[in-house]
Amino acid sequence: MSISSQAATATTMAEAVVDLTAIAHNTAMLAETAGTAGLMAVVKADGFGHGAEEVARTALRHGATWLGVASAAEALALRARGLTAPILLWLYSPAETFEEVLEAGVDVSVGAVEALEALAGAAERTGTVANVHLKLDTGMSRGGAPAEEWAQLLAWSRKFAHAGLLHVRGLWSHLANAENPDDPGLHTQLREFELGRQAAIAAGLDPPIVHLANSAAALQLPQARYDLSRAGIALYGIEPVPGRRFGLRPAMTVRAQILLTKRVPAGTGVSYGPDFVTERETTLALVPLGFADGIPRQAAGRASMAVRGVRCPIAGRVSMDQVVLDVGDLPVRAGEYAVMFGPGDDGEPTADDWAGWADTNPHEILTGVGARVSRRYEQHATAPPPAESRR
Ligand SMILES: Cc1ncc(COP(=O)(O)O)c(C=O)c1O
Repeated sequence: MSISSQAATATTMAEAVVDLTAIAHNTAMLAETAGTAGLMAVVKADGFGHGAEEVARTALRHGATWLGVASAAEALALRARGLTAPILLWLYSPAETFEEVLEAGVDVSVGAVEALEALAGAAERTGTVANVHLKLDTGMSRGGAPAEEWAQLLAWSRKFAHAGLLHVRGLWSHLANAENPDDPGLHTQLREFELGRQAAIAAGLDPPIVHLANSAAALQLPQARYDLSRAGIALYGIEPVPGRRFGLRPAMTVRAQILLTKRVPAGTGVSYGPDFVTERETTLALVPLGFADGIPRQAAGRASMAVRGVRCPIAGRVSMDQVVLDVGDLPVRAGEYAVMFGPGDDGEPTADDWAGWADTNPHEILTGVGARVSRRYEQHATAPPPAESRR
C-alpha cells in the first residue's frame, strides 16, 4: 500500500482517511454500468465531505466524464485548481451575473426565463456562449420549471439560441425516490420527463445530453440513464438502494486518537447532565470528536465506535469537541484509535449505522464531518487501471 498524506500534522487528533482506491473502484463500476452513457461525479459539498478536488481527479481518471456541483463558488474553485472537465452547476442567487461562470466554461442549470435572460446578458457582455441545461420539475417540487412553464422556457431558449447567445446542451430533472422501483411517483416522473423531452424536440431543441438518474437510478433503472448519470452517494461507496448490494466500497474512515483513559467505579456520572451513570466498574476513554466534528447529538445512547475492532458505546451526551466511550475491560491506552465509522471490514460501524442511530441518511453523516477533522488520502495497489487503459 502506498500512502500519500496531506494536511496531517504531528498534532492531528482526528482524521478522515479517504481511500481514493475505493473512489476509483466505485467510479469504474458506475461508468461500466452507464455503458455508452456518460457519468457525472457529483462533488458538491466538498465531494460529500471527502474533498472535491481529490475526488474529482480520481473520478475523472476512472471513467467520469462530467462534474456536478451545487454552487458557482464550488465550480470556480475546481477551475481554479486546474480541473478542465465539463462542470454543471444548479443553484445560484437571483442576483448572479454569471460572467465569471461563463468565462470559466461552466454549464448552468436553468428552470426559469429570468435566469435565461441573465445568462444571455452575461453571454453578450463576455462574448461567450452560455451552455445551459434546461431543468424540468417532474414532480419533486424543488428546482426546475413546472410543466406549465416548460413551453415558455423552451421558446425563450430557442430565441436566445438563435441569437447565438446560448446553447441548450442539456435537458434534465431529478428523481425523488429512485430507491424504490415500484413507487408510482417514480413512474410519473419518468413519464413527465419523457413528455418534456418530446416537447423540447417538437420545439426545435434537441439537447445532446439528457440526464435524469442519480446513484440509485444509475444502478437499477436502465430507462432513466439516457446520456448521463449523476452519481453522488454511490461514488463515495454507500449502497443507495436499501437491501441491495452492488459491490460499492465506502471511501471514508473517520477516526481519532484516544486522549486518556480512566478506570471508574459503578455509579460514576459521565458527561453533561449526567444522563449516563456507569452500572459497573469500567474503563472510560476520551475521544476528541464532538458535534462540531459531525457526531450527531441525537445518536447518543445508541451509537458506538470501534476500539481494537470492538464496538464501544458512547457514554452520556455528545459534547461539542469530545465524547466518552465505555470501553469496559478492554486494556486500552491513550494514543490508540477509536473509529467512528469506516467500511465496516474490521468491526467498525459504517456511515449507514450512524445514519440509523441519528435518524438521518448517510449523506448527512458524510457531509457533516467537520472542517477540523483533517483529511488524509490513501491509494492502494489494487486500484482499477485508469479508464483509457481499460478501453
Ligand atoms: C441534482 C442532483 N443530482 C444528483 C445528485 C446525486 O444524488 P445521489 O447522491 O443520490 O447519487 C444530487 C445529490 O443530492 C443532486 O442534488
